[in-house]
Amino acid sequence: MASRRILGGLMRRDFATSSQKQIARRKVAILGAAGGIGQPLSLLLKLNPLVSHLSLYDIAGTRGVAADISHINTRAEVEGFEGEEHLGEALKGADLVVIPAGVPRKPGMTRDDLFKINAGIVQSLCAAVAKHSPFALVNIISNPVNSTVPIAAEVFKLAGTYDPKRLFGVTTLDVIRARTFYAAKKLLPVEDVNVPVVGGHAGITILPLFSQAVPQVPISEDELVYLTKRTQDGGTEVVEAKAGKGSATLSMAYAGALFAEACLKGLNGVKDVVECSYVASSVTEIPFFSSKVQLGTDGIEKFFDLGPLSDYELQGLEKLKEELSKSIEKGQDYVHQ
Ligand code: NAI
Repeated sequence: MASRRILGGLMRRDFATSSQKQIARRKVAILGAAGGIGQPLSLLLKLNPLVSHLSLYDIAGTRGVAADISHINTRAEVEGFEGEEHLGEALKGADLVVIPAGVPRKPGMTRDDLFKINAGIVQSLCAAVAKHSPFALVNIISNPVNSTVPIAAEVFKLAGTYDPKRLFGVTTLDVIRARTFYAAKKLLPVEDVNVPVVGGHAGITILPLFSQAVPQVPISEDELVYLTKRTQDGGTEVVEAKAGKGSATLSMAYAGALFAEACLKGLNGVKDVVECSYVASSVTEIPFFSSKVQLGTDGIEKFFDLGPLSDYELQGLEKLKEELSKSIEKGQDYVHQ
């Protein structure tokens, strides 16, 4: 079969070699590629015809993942790099760097509890990105995203390579959760649903805007509270169900692949690619904020303002400001301590 639809519309492209020749060559590096998210994310990006070269890096375990995935007969050439001494090689020439490296939550932990370990991991990986692929777009998945993105920004500033239009915190999982829960609650076809999610990526800082959901259907106060809370606690739902064996990996890999694809489309000049992402922002007074951005050939091309918010959402916005601001400062202070 020459043309097929995979993953509910994630990759609708012709797999035939003749069409591949017209698609730009794009190298994607995944740092933390042997982990719970890294492995399925590597698989999904190997299936994506926009990727010509997939570079899999981890401190251990990447050789096997790379060998395994490399046998799939799709466009991307796969290379595995293991150990810090090979990080530079893994990053060289990357157009997009995706970072899911770090420890995940266990039951009872907040994302902020991961800060001590993951802050250092993100700092050192971003220092290597600044050195070896300073022009790449960077997608940060490692939690706490509310702090790890400001950490990355400070590292890039110190290295003199910071471009706020190229640094993204991946919050796509919050968006796909909001879509799924809204569709299920209102009995809507899930593929037709969209819900912007703004703010940050932890607890009450995750603010789904059901007043702007597409399609619009009447929603009661109780339903709104239920849907908002379930979106905010979606990660914890998975952590508890996995009972000590980590956090969301498969849905996160899907979300990460979706966002990476949006970045690649933007780089390739595809028009009107719009996603929510946690980025350096002046949409509110908070210096990093997730909202809708348009992706282009240099990263962020356009910021969208929040649009009209309901009273409930305005209250949510006020509530999240303090926590989000503190998480940002914590990340920034970490780099300068
Ligand atoms: P995992 O423990 O299964 O995998 C993490 C991988 O990172 C491991 O293979 C490990 O060897 C690697 N690693 C550790 N230090 C490294 C370093 N210095 N350089 C390169 N690789 C390194 O964890 P999992 O489940 O894949 O989660 C990864 C991160 O993603 C966690 O911080 C988790 O909280 C976060 N996450 C983010 C979400 C989001 O929506 N942004 C959703 C779910 C998880």
